[in-house]
Order: sequence, then C-alpha cells, then structure tokens
Amino acid sequence: KKLRIAVIPGDGIGQEVMPEGVACMKAACKRFNIDIEFDESFNDWATCDRYLKEGSMLPDNWKSVLSQYDAIYFGAVGDPEKVPDHISLWGSLIQFRREFDQYISLRPCRLLPGIECPLANKKIGDIDFWVVRENTEGEYSSVGGKMFPGTDREFVIQDTIMTRTGVDRVLKYAFELAQSRPKKHLTSATKSNGISISMPYWDERVKAMAEGYGDVKVDKFHIDILCAFFVLRPEMFDVVVGSNLFGDILSDLGPACTGSIGVAPSGNINPTGLFPSLFEPVHGSAPDIAGKGIANPIGMIWAGQMMLEHFGCKDAADKVMQAIEEALGKGGPEVITRDLGGKGDCKGLGKHILELIETL
Ligand code: NAI
Ligand code: MG
Repeated sequence: KKLRIAVIPGDGIGQEVMPEGVACMKAACKRFNIDIEFDESFNDWATCDRYLKEGSMLPDNWKSVLSQYDAIYFGAVGDPEKVPDHISLWGSLIQFRREFDQYISLRPCRLLPGIECPLANKKIGDIDFWVVRENTEGEYSSVGGKMFPGTDREFVIQDTIMTRTGVDRVLKYAFELAQSRPKKHLTSATKSNGISISMPYWDERVKAMAEGYGDVKVDKFHIDILCAFFVLRPEMFDVVVGSNLFGDILSDLGPACTGSIGVAPSGNINPTGLFPSLFEPVHGSAPDIAGKGIANPIGMIWAGQMMLEHFGCKDAADKVMQAIEEALGKGGPEVITRDLGGKGDCKGLGKHILELIETL
C-alpha cells in the first residue's frame, strides 16, 4: 500500500528545515523502494500568517482532510510577534494531538557523535533508550477548580485521571517497543510511595501487563531517583514509560543528558492507525534565526527517520540514522551548523545528509 504523508512546515524555521527533511525522506524511500507520496500542498496550514489572513490556523475541514493521510510530517508553529503562542499552538498542534488521539509521545535518547555529552565519560552506545509518555490523561486533566478565591479559605484542587484503557494502551505500546529491542527491558516511572491512589494503580497495571510479556525484564523507580539515574547511570535504560507528567519531565531530561535536545525529534503517535500520527522536531519555530538559512535541519530529518521506523521501514530508517551520525561525526565545521559550533548552513547540511543517504 502506498503511504501518504501530509507535509506541514508551519512557521519560522519550520519552512527552512522541512524541505531538507522531505528531500532526505524521498532519497531514503527511493533507495529502498518504498512507495510513498509527500503531499506538499499544506504550506500555509498551521501558520500565523494564515491566522492573520483567515482568522484561523487551519481550515474548518482540516480533520477530514488530514484523516486521509498515514502520517503528518510537521515543522514548527509559532510567531509570537504576530499571534500569541496559546492561539497558534492550540489552533494547530494541540488540535492534532487531541482529535487524532495521539496518545503516545515518543522520544529517543541516544548519544550521537560530534555532540558534546554533558555527562562525563560516556561513549557512543552507552546511552540509547526511548522515553514513552502517556499523552492524553493523567495529571494533565482539567478537572478541579479554585474555591473561595481571594479569601483566606481559598484553595485549589486538580484531579489526576487514570483510566484503565488509557493506562493499559500506553503500557502495551511500551512493552511491545521493549520486546522489539535486544535488551527487552522496560522501566516504569512511579511515585507510589507519595501519591497513594493513582500511582499504585499505575504500578498495578504495569504488573498486570507484564504477565503478557514474559520475555521483557521489568523494573520500576520513583520519579525522583529515576531522574537521578538518568544523569548518573543512563546505561541502565532501554525503554522508559511514564504518566503524562512524569513522561513530560523525562522526555526533556533524557535528550538533555545526551546533549541532543537541539536536534531531537518527537513522535505523537496513535498506534491504532485509525488516525494519522505526527512526527516533528522538538524545537520550535526559532524566530530569532528564522529567515537566515542557518537552522539545523537534523531535528526535522531525525523526525522523518522516526516516521519511517514507525511504518516498519527499518532499512530506510537505519540508513537515515547512519547518515545523520556520519554527518555529525565526520562532516566537519564547514558542514555542521552554528548551533553545534560549525559554520555550515541549513541547505548545506541537508544536502550533505541526503548524499550520505544515497551513497553510504
Ligand atoms: P525554539 O525551539 O524555537 O528556540 C529556542 C532556541 O533554540 C532559539 O535560540 C533558537 O534559535 C534555537 N534553535 C531552535 N531550533 C533550532 C535549530 N533547528 N537550529 C538552530 N538553532 C535552533 O523555542 P522558543 O524560542 O521558546 O519558541 C519560539 C516559538 O516556537 C514560540 O512561538 C513557541 O511557541 C514555538 N514552539 C513551537 C513548538 C512546536 O511547534 N512543537 C515547540 C516549541 C516552541
Ligand atoms: Mg516538555
């Protein structure tokens, strides 16, 4: 079956890094005979310019249009000089996540060559794990409220909601990811010593799910010591799964520990395939460097690599990763962009990686 990808570059450097991402994906798919189509007709979707012209970030029928695609390849959104961030973000990316029930947020934490690791004495291969975050419920519910505001009886309540369906589906995804990897090791983030109702429930569901995955080694840590272990002993992780809040924290901390937060990608995934999943770089639209042609395209390209992996196109995904690592490790200052200490530009680095995808 032909894969169809909706390409939405969005604002700022999204417009600059996306062409490099699409070109690299096309090269990888051509080399490995993957039948895929990149629809680049969404250029003004999720842009603040569109909002100023049309009064909305997306056309009214966006959901039915995008539902027909297998994935969304997304750049970045936001131009705070023109439109407040909460309007641009809630009018686009957050709509996609919610309406397409992208209940998994997935981020790689991998040491790459040529990027200085903030942790001492780590070599390539030492850090290579995934953070899987629950993306729809948990601590980020809007149930609660403020009572007696402005008085000394004032108080606030915000409830955590964990449904069996919601917890089990993220755990299932994480267990299957662990099962697909050589180490077959899953770590669960908890805090059942302090949070005495919801977190013991999370632990209970982990235990129940583990019974169906006898070959996966399972452990759990409280979120505080788990954060410490990310920094002190990152070698010990393979797949780490957490609730919405814990996963949020871990999915920034993990890439930060490898120094790669600036080039990191992210997947917002609906594993059922009923709706498209979305792949994007972690970074935003970078208004401070937009239009200068100096943005690093690696986050965009790596996000495309995740998309290929998501579709099971392993050879193509591995080749893109190999090309990224080769460019970072051996590309040299002429090719590497300024954010990583080189003198290269967006187009040059993108072209370099594309050629590596074709020839490595
Ligand atoms: P940002 O990630 O856009 O920029 C932070 C810093 O990193 C800036 O100095 C920028 O120049 C640099 N940077 C980011 N990506 C880079 C790249 N590829 N190459 C070289 N340097 C890069 O975050 P910021 O400044 O907080 O937000 C700017 C806008 O982006 C806001 O409107 C915000 O709402 C939006 N945003 C959108 C996201 C998304 O679309 N998923 C995520 C984060 C922010
Ligand atoms: Mg975060």
